[in-house]
Amino acid sequence: MKYLLDFNFRRGYIVYPSIVVVVGVFDKNLRANFMSCIWNTPLSFDPPLYGVSISPTRATYNLILEREEFSICFWPFDKVQDVEFFGTYSYREIDKSKDIKLIESIKTKTPIPERAYAVLECSLYDYTTYGDHTLFVGKILVIHFDENSTYELFNMPVLDLNKKKPVLYLGNGIYLTVDEKTILNLRK
Ligand SMILES: Cc1cc2nc3c(=O)[nH]c(=O)nc-3n(C[C@H](O)[C@H](O)[C@H](O)COP(=O)(O)O)c2cc1C
Repeated sequence: MKYLLDFNFRRGYIVYPSIVVVVGVFDKNLRANFMSCIWNTPLSFDPPLYGVSISPTRATYNLILEREEFSICFWPFDKVQDVEFFGTYSYREIDKSKDIKLIESIKTKTPIPERAYAVLECSLYDYTTYGDHTLFVGKILVIHFDENSTYELFNMPVLDLNKKKPVLYLGNGIYLTVDEKTILNLRK
């Protein structure tokens, strides 16, 4: 193995692929904005917490601080162009919600896109800045899911990869997804 001591982590693509989420938030006029976010992670079972790491340079950063709630949307690979679009244009220059049909949120006022296969409705639980990004921690209040692209396991929805595929990212505008032929159930 070789190693790097002097590196530019902005180009830290070696940590990918991983799943991209789309962070949704309304502005004060209830115009929805969406931003792609590769730095995302589940954080806690109870309370149910999910983290998204967002640079203060993104319009989404201020919108989350203003509204103190946001949605975390899992986008299907057949609409991957949306993810590239949400991640390359800003709220400041364009209305990214124009072609996105929304359904009603339940416990918050957050954008729930119909075309996502799952959406977590979150209230802002906490946030801390680490270096040049801020980790926003959302408390999950509602889980929306598409019942046509999921199956049930232990009373919870699981993505059915024969129906929809997740969007993974390799960096530098390169996207991929998973191949269900590689699934191994080692508990059977
Ligand atoms: C696939 C992808 C993943 C991204 N992940 C992040 C991320 O984790 N955190 C972040 O701050 N920006 C991330 N970005 C950049 C923002 O999505 C981008 O700057 C976006 O235009 C911000 O939109 P906004 O100004 O409307 O909030 C990502 C971009 C792409 C294309």
